[in-house]
Amino acid sequence: MISLEHLNKTFGNHQALTDINTTFNAHETTVIVGPSGSGKSTLLRSLNLLERPESGIYHFNDDNIDFAKPLSSKTILNVRRKTGMVFQDYNLFPHLSVVKNVMEGPIQVLNQKPDAAKQTALDLLDKVGLADKADAYPGQLSGGQQQRVAIARSLAMNPEYILLDEPTSALDPELEAGVLRVLLALAKEDDSMIIVTHNMEFARAVADKILFVEDGKILFDGTPSEFFKQPTQRIADFLAAMTFTTISDKAK
Ligand SMILES: Nc1ncnc2c1ncn2[C@@H]1O[C@H](COP(=O)(O)OP(=O)(O)O)[C@@H](O)[C@H]1O
Ligand SMILES: [Mg+2]
Repeated sequence: MISLEHLNKTFGNHQALTDINTTFNAHETTVIVGPSGSGKSTLLRSLNLLERPESGIYHFNDDNIDFAKPLSSKTILNVRRKTGMVFQDYNLFPHLSVVKNVMEGPIQVLNQKPDAAKQTALDLLDKVGLADKADAYPGQLSGGQQQRVAIARSLAMNPEYILLDEPTSALDPELEAGVLRVLLALAKEDDSMIIVTHNMEFARAVADKILFVEDGKILFDGTPSEFFKQPTQRIADFLAAMTFTTISDKAK
């Protein structure tokens, strides 16, 4: 289990996260929502130590990281191995085939034998619906297919948590659906995931828990059923705005 206590992160004189306290349960999907610039990515990136909060405690199972103290490279490596990050723009290696993209980390970092890494990679590509694309190159795939390769690549490292930052925001709606289906299937298998998304229908379908972040603060931390009952005026306004975006996109 991951939990955070009194986390604070500033960029210059801008406070991006203020006194964040929350828990990300193992085998559950936590969805982070909120307006643009509210601190969602900073929160997610702090869990992977891509951002370094100035203060707060980060508990990862029995390990406790105090951000007010220097972090050892061993701690950073350890946290990075336990948290697989999937980015909005996939970041695949363009010169490697799809299967080699998925095998690379396990061979280089986990010292797996190439045959074993290849078998795992093929199984994972099958799981994300891309068994037939193993020998293709990233440039030959659609954005949605590339993002599914990126998810398989993250799973191949066997992280305890998968972190996804707006995994479908670069995709057309029909390509988005394929990625969301893969993530829903992973959630049903009780993988531990933390997902930033603007897709409210997906959030409702996939989340065990929702965090609503605004101005660097958590304004809601609870179940999707409570969240979608619009417990505050601010959440009602946010959901109305998000729904309007969806409707107006569809009208185009
Ligand atoms: N590297 C950075 N340097 C300076 N300001 C940053 C940096 N990263 C994020 N910010 C600022 O921190 C705030 C939160 O950003 P971010 O976490 O990216 O928001 P979100 O993901 O919710 O859109 C924003 O005001 C953003 O401009
Ligand atoms: Mg962001």
